[in-house]
Amino acid sequence: MALITSKQMFEKAISSNYAIGAFNVNNMEIIQGIVEAAKEENSPLILQVSAGARKYAKPIYLVKLVEAAMDDSGLDIVLHLDHGEDFEICKKCVDDGFTSVMIDGSKHSFNENIELTKRVVDYAHSKGVVVEAELGKLAGVEDDVNVNAKDATYTDPDQAAEFVEKTGVDSLAIAIGTSHGAYKFKGEPKLDFQRLKKISELMPDTPLVLHGASTVLPQFVEMCNKYGGKIPGAQGVPEEMLREAAKYNICKINIDTDLRLAMTASIRNNFAENPSEFDPRKYLGPARSAIKEMVQHKIKTVLGSSHKR
Ligand code: G3H
Ligand code: 13P
Ligand code: ZN
Repeated sequence: MALITSKQMFEKAISSNYAIGAFNVNNMEIIQGIVEAAKEENSPLILQVSAGARKYAKPIYLVKLVEAAMDDSGLDIVLHLDHGEDFEICKKCVDDGFTSVMIDGSKHSFNENIELTKRVVDYAHSKGVVVEAELGKLAGVEDDVNVNAKDATYTDPDQAAEFVEKTGVDSLAIAIGTSHGAYKFKGEPKLDFQRLKKISELMPDTPLVLHGASTVLPQFVEMCNKYGGKIPGAQGVPEEMLREAAKYNICKINIDTDLRLAMTASIRNNFAENPSEFDPRKYLGPARSAIKEMVQHKIKTVLGSSHKR
């Protein structure tokens, strides 16, 4: 087993209309829960580390934990940098052994984004590492996205094709109405599938990535709120929409919020029901199991990546 790139994974996913989960990791229990689920499902797996995760856990701990998970499980794993904001963090991760990095130049102008992405692609490819870039801006729940705003912030299909051509990037994160966190939609959830369809038609061989793709599973929101949490009105991307997106070349689906909610709901439940318990293993163990169960559900019924290794 080894740390691998996502190249072949994405080729298979594109041709067979399924997606691979890219799960954010911050500590040992999260890594173990996800990896146990992927192993039981015999699913390809991407573990991703944000700048915040690197700051929280220290990069070396996360790399060693992922290596340990790989050795222990016998699974090949893609180790990916999530939302690298500049060349330096991407270079650092390439040099640290990551097999995939994201350069998120979406806040820059189109031309600056191309220039920055190309620089990262040149470096990463020279070391055998693949690169994800982002074009367009993810919506926020406060954004009332009318047609004009959509054109200003969502990914423009023609620009996307030009961007991929000019940068040589391996995969592209696109904006079609999702957003990060637990509050993705005010009313009815809506994604711009027409736009996604057009993008996938213009570049049929480019793997697309959906950020902000947590479903914000109601059972975890309810459990958090029942045991002292305050996250009323949280809402994510319905599972049916994720299945639909996978048909149009979305082959990497990013999930962090659902992990956070599963873990927090389980811990809140445990604290409320066992107030005299203070051994962290007694609440982190069940939290790890909650993550495993949730990830297994996603792999089996939403992503469709079971038995695709
Ligand atoms: O895209 C954002 C991910 O959920 C990572 O979040 O930057 O708080 O680690 P973070
Ligand atoms: P969620 O907040 O929907 O889990 O999205 C995570 C993400 O896109 C990480 O890059
Ligand atoms: Zn993201």
